[in-house]
Amino acid sequence: MIIAIDGPAASGKSTAARALAKRLGLTFLDTGAMYRAVTLVIIDRGIDPNDEFSCQTVANSIRLEFDEEGKILIGGMPGEPAIRGPEVTRHVSEVSAHSGVRRALVRLQRKIADESVAAGGGVVAEGRDTTSVVFPTADLKVFLVASPRVRAERRATEEGAPERAAEYEKDLQRRDDFDSSREDSPLTETRDAVRVDTDRLSPDEVLEELCELARVRAEAR
Ligand code: DC
Repeated sequence: MIIAIDGPAASGKSTAARALAKRLGLTFLDTGAMYRAVTLVIIDRGIDPNDEFSCQTVANSIRLEFDEEGKILIGGMPGEPAIRGPEVTRHVSEVSAHSGVRRALVRLQRKIADESVAAGGGVVAEGRDTTSVVFPTADLKVFLVASPRVRAERRATEEGAPERAAEYEKDLQRRDDFDSSREDSPLTETRDAVRVDTDRLSPDEVLEELCELARVRAEAR
């Protein structure tokens, strides 16, 4: 089974996708972590994030894998927490807009899913283009949304700085605008995706709703 979940930054995708994968015994595929990992290596090597050729070369040459907990490994080393740092967050939208970078990572995402399905499992993937480009025939597609204010408050609380919500809101807006307006694989809500608004839902309630959607789809298969 392939479940694809997309939505804007901090809409609760990772939390929901990780918990759903655990509940259903599927592989969790955090595609944003892969774009962040490439961005981290680019920054570490002093490469200009706007230099498409160099970014593409990095995406094609580094070894990315996920451990059993779904955490990314870069050349065998843990990518967390460095991939969540402010500098990576600042540049990841530019890096992920390069088609050469996307081609390399989409290939890897499909390979991970194929291997998991071949082993009798499947994936819960989350990102910006998993419903539209990476897994267009996914068994279940979900588009998670939440208002900019709620997303900023959640992100600020997660980071232990609730007083900085307004600042986070601006940053999320900038990233959403960039991710939705880029030419290659922009964030889009596909017509066959189920929209789930998480503004008034707790993480547990989101999980229950997704489990129910997955159950109905599995029965219909
Ligand atoms: O979900 P996240 O915030 O960790 O994602 C980081 C960035 O990666 C996001 O701003 C856009 C990019 N991204 C993408 O272009 N395509 C995806 N499938 C996932 C993330």
